[in-house]
Amino acid sequence: MDGNGRWAKKRGMPRTFGHAQGSENVEMVCEDAWTLGIKYLTVYAFSTENWKRPSDEVNTLMELFLDYLTDYHDKMISKNMRVRCIGDRTALSEDIQNAIAVLESDSSANTGLNFTIAINYGGRDEITRAVRNIVSEGVDPADITEETITAHLDTASIPDPDLVIRTSGEERLSNFMPWQTAYSEFYYTDVLWPDFDMETLKDACRSFSRRSRRHGGL
Ligand code: FPP
Repeated sequence: MDGNGRWAKKRGMPRTFGHAQGSENVEMVCEDAWTLGIKYLTVYAFSTENWKRPSDEVNTLMELFLDYLTDYHDKMISKNMRVRCIGDRTALSEDIQNAIAVLESDSSANTGLNFTIAINYGGRDEITRAVRNIVSEGVDPADITEETITAHLDTASIPDPDLVIRTSGEERLSNFMPWQTAYSEFYYTDVLWPDFDMETLKDACRSFSRRSRRHGGL
């Protein structure tokens, strides 16, 4: 969800204003995704590298996450959404950890949009934690397969992404699901995240539908 800072700057506002606007856009995009028949949607909200930002920006983002998880709790449940978070949540505040646990538990039987929020998420960190867990379980190295690793990632219960959309003209993966995106399609748009709307999502889906996916085969 890139481009919040630039969106705010263009309006002479602080970057945190852009994050607040970006946060409000999340609900709409969930709605649009479900309307278009998308079953799984993941948003990259905060990376393991984002702690390097100024503390007031980090604090605002953490407040926005907590607000979103609590203010939209009932709405997400009533929309039948299944909500999960990925990333190392041990570094998050107790309030946020609790809000995540409540939302994950309350939505666990829901059958609508599978909505995943990546908070304090980094693909390399995720793989490192997975390897630690595999080793601590005493798995014989000879028995470790790709499936073993996949099953130990935070994303174990969700399928690999078909399409990764990055906004604001940046064309990098930035530590987002390096394992899971091995065969994903990518779509880059100059649209800044707060301006991302149904039209942009449709453009991305149209582009995706024209791709020929061979997964390494012919
Ligand atoms: C990157 O754009 C954006 C982030 C690091 C934060 C994304 C967070 C939100 C949209 C808010 C809340 C999310 C949820 C799930 C409630 P940037 O700010 O670095 O933009 P820039 O590249 O223009 O500076």
